[in-house]
Amino acid sequence: MPQPIVLSFIQAKQLLKARAAKAETALASPDLGISMVEVTIADSGAIFPGGECLSWDDATTIAAEETRCFVLEHGRIKPIQIYSEETDRFYSLMPTEGAPTLLISGIPMHRIKGTDPYKDTLSKVRTIAPIRGRVLDTATGLGYTAIEEAKTAEQVITVEFDPAALEIARLNPWSRRLFDNPTIEQRIGDVFDVVQDFADGSFSCILHDPPMFSLAGQLYSGEFYRQLYRVLKRGGRLFHYIGDPSNTSAATVTRGAVRRLQEAGFTRIVRRPEAFGVVAYK
Ligand SMILES: C[S@@+](CC[C@H](N)C(=O)[O-])C[C@H]1O[C@@H](n2cnc3c(N)ncnc32)[C@H](O)[C@@H]1O
Repeated sequence: MPQPIVLSFIQAKQLLKARAAKAETALASPDLGISMVEVTIADSGAIFPGGECLSWDDATTIAAEETRCFVLEHGRIKPIQIYSEETDRFYSLMPTEGAPTLLISGIPMHRIKGTDPYKDTLSKVRTIAPIRGRVLDTATGLGYTAIEEAKTAEQVITVEFDPAALEIARLNPWSRRLFDNPTIEQRIGDVFDVVQDFADGSFSCILHDPPMFSLAGQLYSGEFYRQLYRVLKRGGRLFHYIGDPSNTSAATVTRGAVRRLQEAGFTRIVRRPEAFGVVAYK
């Protein structure tokens, strides 16, 4: 099935610039920077290979929107955003110069200041490298951590609470491997409950990348950490994203999380400020 064209203000501005320069063609990305194609600059709009046309009015609309990406299909644009009745929150795909991030009620789910979501993902996954065996990825989001873990793991089980987040991921070109990689198994549910289904010692690594404490407090609780400890193999590693350690409230949350991880049984806990989290060893 052909993939839909997904655009942000970055491509829209490039195309408008090409039109202003009276160019006949321009190179533009149909998938938020993953690949480039030659686009015809016509009076009616920018025409992509395959015939899809972005009108100049729509290009101007997209160029003015820095917090949402758009799908272009059948000559119409549609913002990538969803209201979730499940959580009473708005989900949208926000562009960056690299991979886009997921906004939940306006809060980015990846680091974007001084870095980008892909580099952020690499910094998290590297804290528990080498990743082998069976991996639990507690919060799917756009699937970036699951996709990265699946490059070396035997199996990745990734859990997402809100189907709205997965709907956004389905439209995100950077999330495509989440849906076609047989190494990744997706579960829908609250990981607080789902984790109880797993046998003791059944994962070699766990990557815990929850929303911030104020959005998902139970995922920072002693009760949840005891479950993570139980399902981790002896010698296994847990990375827990917490937040910018130089921020006072994240530093407070980190201190509490470290204490509760120790109480849950983790023998060694190492702060990894470069990844805004901690690694706990069993
Ligand atoms: C920081 S994002 C995860 C980013 C993800 N690791 C990635 O690489 O794109 C957090 C995700 O956790 C989801 N979430 C929130 N509460 C949850 C829960 N109780 N169980 C599972 N997922 C949850 C949110 O909907 C959001 O998609």
